[in-house]
Amino acid sequence: MIRLALPKGRNLDPVLAALRAAGLTLPGLQAGSRRLRFEAAVDGVEILLLKDWDLPLYVEQGIADCGFVGSDVLEEVDGDLLEPLRLLAGRSRLSLIGLPGARPQAGGQLRLATKYPRTARRWLGDRPWGAEVLELQGSMELAPLLNLADLVLDIVQTGRTLLEHHLEELEVVREVATCFIVNRAALQARRSSITTLVRQLEAAGVAQ
Ligand code: PRP
Repeated sequence: MIRLALPKGRNLDPVLAALRAAGLTLPGLQAGSRRLRFEAAVDGVEILLLKDWDLPLYVEQGIADCGFVGSDVLEEVDGDLLEPLRLLAGRSRLSLIGLPGARPQAGGQLRLATKYPRTARRWLGDRPWGAEVLELQGSMELAPLLNLADLVLDIVQTGRTLLEHHLEELEVVREVATCFIVNRAALQARRSSITTLVRQLEAAGVAQ
């Protein structure tokens, strides 16, 4: 039995679809349930449902053997994690967003709102302009509309949120994928089960 951590956010649906394509039935997981822990003995897994930002810690500490989380979140956290696979579905991008026509000028100093301060500072390191990074937890689109910030660094997937707020995707900063992450010690202790899951996901053509 392996303990598998799944993200509760927007990545949950593509992760469940990938696991089911790989042959898991996950009978305990029902839409609308508030349960956070399921045992799917038939699949040989116990499932934990976690907030994306908490998930890497559970895997790094070995509470969960493995899990799925976005590369956007992984880039923000420390942790010695193996990352053998990325899902093909549910891809998005981390982009620079602003009011239509907003363009940072060389030598300028702006305010950049984001949930991703570490990625933002790394990326800003080699820009010809500078920015004060304002850390927000959500509703990012309001920041440039209400002049809290000049620009936003945030996830764009369908582009619908931008469209609804008349904002523009100025530059793609990172491609974002959902990663399968594994605890190193768990790979030693439960190599056969974890390797089987990796092979099933590859064979189903849902991850690479
Ligand atoms: C992200 C992001 C945007 C939205 C973009 O938020 O912050 O608001 O998705 O997606 P779209 O291009 O498909 O419209 P998310 O829904 O993950 O919620 P969060 O703000 O709670 O992180």
